[in-house]
Amino acid sequence: MPANLAHRRDHLETLLLESQPLWQPATFRERRPAWCTDHPELTHDLLTLDDATLRSLSENSENSITWLSSYLPQIEPLKKLIQLPKATTSPENSNPKIHGVGARKAAQINAFIAAMGRPQTPTVEWCSGKGHLSRALLRTHGGEALAVERNPTLCHSGKLLSKDLAHQFLQADVMAPKIAETLRSSHAIALHACGDLHQRLALAATEVHAPAIHFAPCCYQLTAHEHYLPRSKKSPLTLNKNTLKLAVTETSSSAPGRTARSERSSAWKLAFINLREQLHPEAPYQTFPPIPGHWQQLSFQEFLTTLATREGIPIPKSFDFPKSENAGWIRHQESRRLQLVRLSYRRAIELWLMHDLAAWLEQQNYHVSITEFCPRTLTPRNLLVSARLKK
Ligand SMILES: C[S@@+](CC[C@H](N)C(=O)[O-])C[C@H]1O[C@@H](n2cnc3c(N)ncnc32)[C@H](O)[C@@H]1O
Repeated sequence: MPANLAHRRDHLETLLLESQPLWQPATFRERRPAWCTDHPELTHDLLTLDDATLRSLSENSENSITWLSSYLPQIEPLKKLIQLPKATTSPENSNPKIHGVGARKAAQINAFIAAMGRPQTPTVEWCSGKGHLSRALLRTHGGEALAVERNPTLCHSGKLLSKDLAHQFLQADVMAPKIAETLRSSHAIALHACGDLHQRLALAATEVHAPAIHFAPCCYQLTAHEHYLPRSKKSPLTLNKNTLKLAVTETSSSAPGRTARSERSSAWKLAFINLREQLHPEAPYQTFPPIPGHWQQLSFQEFLTTLATREGIPIPKSFDFPKSENAGWIRHQESRRLQLVRLSYRRAIELWLMHDLAAWLEQQNYHVSITEFCPRTLTPRNLLVSARLKK
């Protein structure tokens, strides 16, 4: 496994480019991706996986890579490439409970603080929400912090929680010009800053040579750009929003009720796609706008009729709705199983994105590392990019 971030980025890129036909097709859109023809035994074994095995493989990329490597030997090197060191933790951290924050979020915040260590300069929390991270940091280490957040209500609530601390709030849009000045001579931190927001943090912090940066990224698909814009060098790897979303696809972390609703929604949408394909077998797949939340109250027949009307698809006379719903569920179960191949690449995609940004930070004269700041069970978005300006 290459230790150097730029080399690791290149290894991930090579592997992702070579295996593009395996991770690019979304099984929701393509009932049988082209790889199914090349790998009939794998296709058969996936389609006949029992639910418990499917769940355990879907939850863990390493396990699914192991399972898949007997069919797809080319996937085996991924297993080592996606292994990351755990962050070393400092012992001073002592806030098991954080006021106003659930236990899981508090554990994430504490793990982040333990991993970043004592800041040497005032801290700036980027896209802070109510500023729980910087507040907990102040309670652990003392010092001063500024929380930058766009939402005035969150800033107001944050200020009320920080009355006893040297904790300021700046209500500002981090995409605005001149925002970099807030980071000058500061230790920049961000927990779960989405796509463009963590990219902006890296750009702004390096612009003013901020001495230290620690951030945990999330939601890579939340970007104003059509594709990810590679930072460290040109790349033949093109990741569109659909693929960026794959990097954060989770199959297990939702509450059971939510999972059941999302499964039903998928099965019903697939019933609609079946209908559309029956009527227009040659037409390419077309995305459709999101389904309004209140449609969840509808029966299957009402749902399909409403969606078909909205999308201009006529429902044939004497249409068999129960049969259509059943076919939607069958297709959903198949899609979940075949998706396992694609899901096995999600961590590699996430790591390529972060190694690209980390390699760029190195080019900007920073010592950089990427670690896991907490176990995946606390949050699957557990990457921590740490950068310190070289002296
Ligand atoms: C995913 S939340 C993370 C909040 C907090 N760091 C946490 O972990 O709970 C993202 C935060 O970024 C803020 N935000 C989104 N876009 C922003 C922008 N352009 N400028 C400043 N803050 C922004 C949102 O209001 C929200 O509070």
